[in-house]
Amino acid sequence: MTQQLTGVSQMTDPRAESTPGGAGPTTMRAAVIDETGCPDVLHVSEVALPLRINAEVLVKVAAAGVNPIDVKTRAGRGVSAAIASYPYILGQDFSGTVVESAYEGHPLKVGDEVYGMLSAPRGQGSYAEYAAVPALQLCKKPGRLSLIEAAGVPLAALTAWGMVVDVAKAHEGQRILIHAGAGGVGHFAVQFAAYFGAYVIATSSSRNASWLRELGAAEVIDYTSTRFEDVVSRVDVVIDLIGNVHDETGTRSLQTLRPGGLIVNAPTGSWPTLVDDAAALGLRATTYKVSPDASTLTIITRLINSGDIHVHIDEVFELADAAESHRRLEQGHTRGKLVIAVAEQV
Ligand SMILES: NC(=O)c1ccc[n+]([C@@H]2O[C@H](COP(=O)([O-])OP(=O)(O)OC[C@H]3O[C@@H](n4cnc5c(N)ncnc54)[C@H](OP(=O)(O)O)[C@@H]3O)[C@@H](O)[C@H]2O)c1
Repeated sequence: MTQQLTGVSQMTDPRAESTPGGAGPTTMRAAVIDETGCPDVLHVSEVALPLRINAEVLVKVAAAGVNPIDVKTRAGRGVSAAIASYPYILGQDFSGTVVESAYEGHPLKVGDEVYGMLSAPRGQGSYAEYAAVPALQLCKKPGRLSLIEAAGVPLAALTAWGMVVDVAKAHEGQRILIHAGAGGVGHFAVQFAAYFGAYVIATSSSRNASWLRELGAAEVIDYTSTRFEDVVSRVDVVIDLIGNVHDETGTRSLQTLRPGGLIVNAPTGSWPTLVDDAAALGLRATTYKVSPDASTLTIITRLINSGDIHVHIDEVFELADAAESHRRLEQGHTRGKLVIAVAEQV
């Protein structure tokens, strides 16, 4: 039977080692695409279980976070050029339970609840019942969070940490303007910047303003009614999650920076002359690209467990409704995160 299933990793029964006679499943349900295109190309299929190798951990996935990169890749943009074969399983964020540890003495044991981020499409993604995950890409999930909530954290929180903490070095006395503060990355960016003592100015529509203040924003600017450059000046850092895909947000942001200030841009909205444009005005600029990183995710886990950082889940979809989650994200007005419940009971 397994030979008839093509395109998804190699065949193995992850529990064959521990189950006498190899009675465990050899296939799993996954939301796959057979080609790139509109959300309708996403459909549930029975595919082969992933093969765990070397120091990978096999995880029974409970839930998968939905990120813009999944949507762009499904549409034929994003990282779709690197998809090696179809059917391809989308998704990078996951939460779930360890069903095979990397080796006997490994700190992650069978039964541990974990979360993390895959490197899809270097390998298959997380919209699936199982994932084989390199040990450096996952850690124990925060005890404070459900598996559904945990699935919304890794990629967005790691991106926010990278931009706000690693690159911008958020600290007391610093003024930071954060565009799209209400989105997946933005709501973590607001919280990290405020946690490290910065004065946070966020942009969002008015319906998210009071919520963003609760998360730590000192000021919220309604981008639908106010030109932010008319009311913001001399910020030290702009965290730009919009860029020039909307109303020249990136270029206009340069006007808000103090001399020598820094703009950190998520690549979707960057433009080819970003660094030169900034330098011509005596400013600094860089893009930022996230990587899976269990050690930083472990620090974020502590901040979640201490109650300092929160994740907001806007909506949860069933695996069969993965296409609907993409339609929802494409509307561009998610508050926090969207999550797909992969397991039937989470
Ligand atoms: N480079 C990387 O490694 C990396 C990693 C993660 C994400 N990204 C990119 O970063 C961007 C943001 O990702 P995300 O996950 O945070 O997206 P998201 O969750 O889909 O963002 C949705 C949010 O954007 C806000 N928004 C929409 N238009 C806006 C505007 N003109 N000004 C201010 N806010 C606006 C909406 O707020 P309202 O509903 O209030 O309008 C909504 O809350 C995406 O382009 C993504 O691809 C890059």
